[in-house]
Amino acid sequence: MRAPDRKLTIAVFGNGGREDALAEAWARSPHVGRVVVSPGNMLIALKCAYGKVAVDPYCNLKSANSIVNAAVRNRADWADVAQDDALASGAVDWLQSRGIPAFGPGKWPARIEWDKFWQRRFADRHCISVPEWVPFESRDLVPAREYLAAIYETDPTHVVWVKAAGLCAGKGARKAASLAQALQRIEEMGMLGEAGATFLIEDGVDGVESSHFAVTDGTTFAHHFKTARDHKAAYDGEEGEMTGGMGAVAPAAPIGLSSWEGARFHLIDKVLVWLYLGGWPYVGILYAGAIADRWRRISIGIAPICLEHNARWGDPEAQVVVPGIETDYAEMVDAAMSGTLREVTITEDALYRVSVAVVARGYPGNTDAVRRKRIFGIEKVLKMPDIRVYGAGVIVEDNRFYVGGGRLFHIVGEGATLAQARDRVYAALDEIRDEDNSIYYRRDIGLLDLQTRGNYC
Ligand code: GLY
Repeated sequence: MRAPDRKLTIAVFGNGGREDALAEAWARSPHVGRVVVSPGNMLIALKCAYGKVAVDPYCNLKSANSIVNAAVRNRADWADVAQDDALASGAVDWLQSRGIPAFGPGKWPARIEWDKFWQRRFADRHCISVPEWVPFESRDLVPAREYLAAIYETDPTHVVWVKAAGLCAGKGARKAASLAQALQRIEEMGMLGEAGATFLIEDGVDGVESSHFAVTDGTTFAHHFKTARDHKAAYDGEEGEMTGGMGAVAPAAPIGLSSWEGARFHLIDKVLVWLYLGGWPYVGILYAGAIADRWRRISIGIAPICLEHNARWGDPEAQVVVPGIETDYAEMVDAAMSGTLREVTITEDALYRVSVAVVARGYPGNTDAVRRKRIFGIEKVLKMPDIRVYGAGVIVEDNRFYVGGGRLFHIVGEGATLAQARDRVYAALDEIRDEDNSIYYRRDIGLLDLQTRGNYC
């Protein structure tokens, strides 16, 4: 590491469980004296990991200007731009132009996440398997209606996904299994503002999802981390609306007709090479969301089919991957930012982790009816061994916990086996009580991996 002559101050930008896990990783480094998470959340502030972590709530993640101001105000030596809106704002470029080394891709390489129409064209150009897709505009739905009518005429129960091209906090992809539902979905795109101005109608792929992550310095090297599995649907058995993520498991087993090596080569390494050759070297964490098609296709080179690329760690996947990184996080990021990642040995521990999101009743829709209801038991869970708790929308006041909005907090169980990690997280969840049935969580996170490891087909 380029030895700093003093302890570093790190500004982490984001507000969820992912940033809580990242703050913890930064704080573990002996090179780091202080971590400020902006805008952060109240549980991060309460825990103050390793006595080094603080929160500066005055930051608008959609504004590069606000992000730069927060970094300057907190005298940050480095910034970790960890959240999608912040990356799309071009904050990394602006921070660097102000002389603050920032970890994450600049606005243009990050386009692979914030413009899903562009990502699909990129994938087609470079032979990366994606579901069949067709683009449409919200301002004129006639072509989309005609397209759907043709599909459902031949197959009335066909599954399609309607996806906003822009960023929608994980809620821009909506499933439909009938013509009426699909027509409703395309109407909804118009309500998403600029994010839904262009949308895609995609063929539904029946299979099991996986999340692949690599850190890269853009030019010389990419290190692939443990693969995770995110569960995005609101309810058990993958039922209900899509959410930002209700829980995750790592390491996840390959399930279906594909391999992790295939995913890593086709969905990550190849992408990094093409971005580099296109003049946009990608520095940061690249995330490929994939699906192993259960019945119909084995994609090129036995890679799973690519559902999305994101320019950052996943949330809640970060909560099950980042705690397992043994290498000093500051040394790893420094090497990535300075183009010397090849010189660092990155290691991860052998533990399994299962993370479950506790969310407000009504999520991913309106949760106002349960706002400020009490939650009990978090203080006990915070002290449990082999358990980590990461904050999101939970309100903390005078050491009492209340429902805020959306995902409230994530509990992570760790163990030598998946079964042990899962038992631990659900034992911890048994300690959580709520007022007036105001929260819920999925009870089947990790079950698919446990029951079907490698035997899905
Ligand atoms: N877990 C999905 C995401 O972070 O986008």
